[in-house]
Amino acid sequence: MAKIVVTGGLGFIGSHTVVELINAGYEPIIVDDLSNSNPKILDQLAKIIGYKPAFHKIDLCNEVDVKAFADSNTDITGIIHFAASKAVGESVQQPIKYYRNNIYSLLNVINAFDKRSANLVFSSSCTVYGQPDVLPVTEAAPVKKAESPYGNTKQIAEEMLQDMSAAGSTYKIISLRYFNPVGAHSTALIGELPIGVPQNLVPFITQAAIGKREKITVFGDDYNTPDGSCVRDYIHVVDLAKAHVAALRLMETEAFKGYDVFNIGTGTGSSVLEVIKAFEQSTGQKLNYHKGPRRNGDIEKVWGDVAKSKNTLKWQTELDLDTMMQSAWEWEKYIAQNPL
Ligand code: WQD
Repeated sequence: MAKIVVTGGLGFIGSHTVVELINAGYEPIIVDDLSNSNPKILDQLAKIIGYKPAFHKIDLCNEVDVKAFADSNTDITGIIHFAASKAVGESVQQPIKYYRNNIYSLLNVINAFDKRSANLVFSSSCTVYGQPDVLPVTEAAPVKKAESPYGNTKQIAEEMLQDMSAAGSTYKIISLRYFNPVGAHSTALIGELPIGVPQNLVPFITQAAIGKREKITVFGDDYNTPDGSCVRDYIHVVDLAKAHVAALRLMETEAFKGYDVFNIGTGTGSSVLEVIKAFEQSTGQKLNYHKGPRRNGDIEKVWGDVAKSKNTLKWQTELDLDTMMQSAWEWEKYIAQNPL
C-alpha cells in the first residue's frame, strides 16, 4: 500500500483528505505540529475509518526532526503538503511568522524527501489570482500581486516548486489552487474547527445559526455583482479532498512529467447573500444578518474555470451548495453536543 505523508493532516482539509486517501487504498501518515489543529481529530478519524492513522507530532520548521522522520520512513512515495498558517488578516499583522512557517516548512519537506522520486501535492490557493481580469479564471491567468503575506507565501511556494522542477528535480509536483473550501464529512465527525471568532463566512453562519454568534454581517452590498455582495467559488471539502487523490493518481502515470497546476473549484460563483439563503433553505434555520461595510482586502468576485481539472486531472466536483450547507450545519450541531 503506497505510503503518503499528509502534513497538516489533522487540519480541516487534511483530515478529510486522510479519509479519502484510505478510501482510495493509500496509507496516510499524518504529520502535524498541533499549532492550529486538535489531536482529538485522530479519535474522530478512527470512528470513520476504523483505526487511528499513524501520526507524528513534528514542527516542520525543525530541519533536523523533518530529516530524521524522512530517513526513518524510506518507503514513503508521496507527500501532500497542507501544513501552513492560513489566516489572511493575521498574516498582515505577523508577516515574518507566515514567511518562516509557510516557506521554511516546505523547504524542509522538499529537502528531507529529495532524491526518492516522490510525488508532491502542494496546497495552493485561488488567492494567487487576486481579482482576476477575466472570469471564470483559468490556470493560465496571470498571478497578481498578493493581497496579503499569506497569499504571497502561496505564490512564492509555487514559484519555488516550478523552478525546482525546471532544474530537473526527481519530484513530480502538482499545485492545487483551492477556491473556498466549506462543509464537512457526511458522518459529521470531522469538519472545520475555527479558533476564536470565525473569519470565514460559512463557519460564522453555522455558529450564528447555533446561537454562538449574535448576527452575521454581510461585508459590503455595493459590489458590482448581481445582488451587490461578493462572489466566491465555494467547494465541498470532500470534493476538495478527492482532488488530492486524483493528483496522486495523475503523477503515478508515465505520461505526467515535472510540474502542473490545477484549479480546484466548482466553476460556479455564489454570492454571500446566495450562500445565506442556501443555508436557510437547505437547513430550515433562519439567520439573523445585516449589511455592513466592505472588509479590507476582499476581492469582488472570483470563480474558477475547471476544464483543465476535468480533462487532465480527471476530477470534478459532485456535491452542491445545499449539501455544503447541510453538512456544515450537521457538523456544527455535532460539535455543540460533543466538544473536542
Ligand atoms: C468569503 C466572502 C467575505 C465573513 C479566504 C482566504 C482564502 C482561503 C479561504 C485559505 C467574502 C464574506 C465573510 C463574514 C461576510 N483561505 N464574509 N461576512 O476571504 O474568500 O477567502 O478563505 O486558503 O485564501 O482569502 O473567504 O469565507 O473569509 O469570505 O460577508 O462574517 O464572505 O467578505 O466576500 P475568502 P471568507
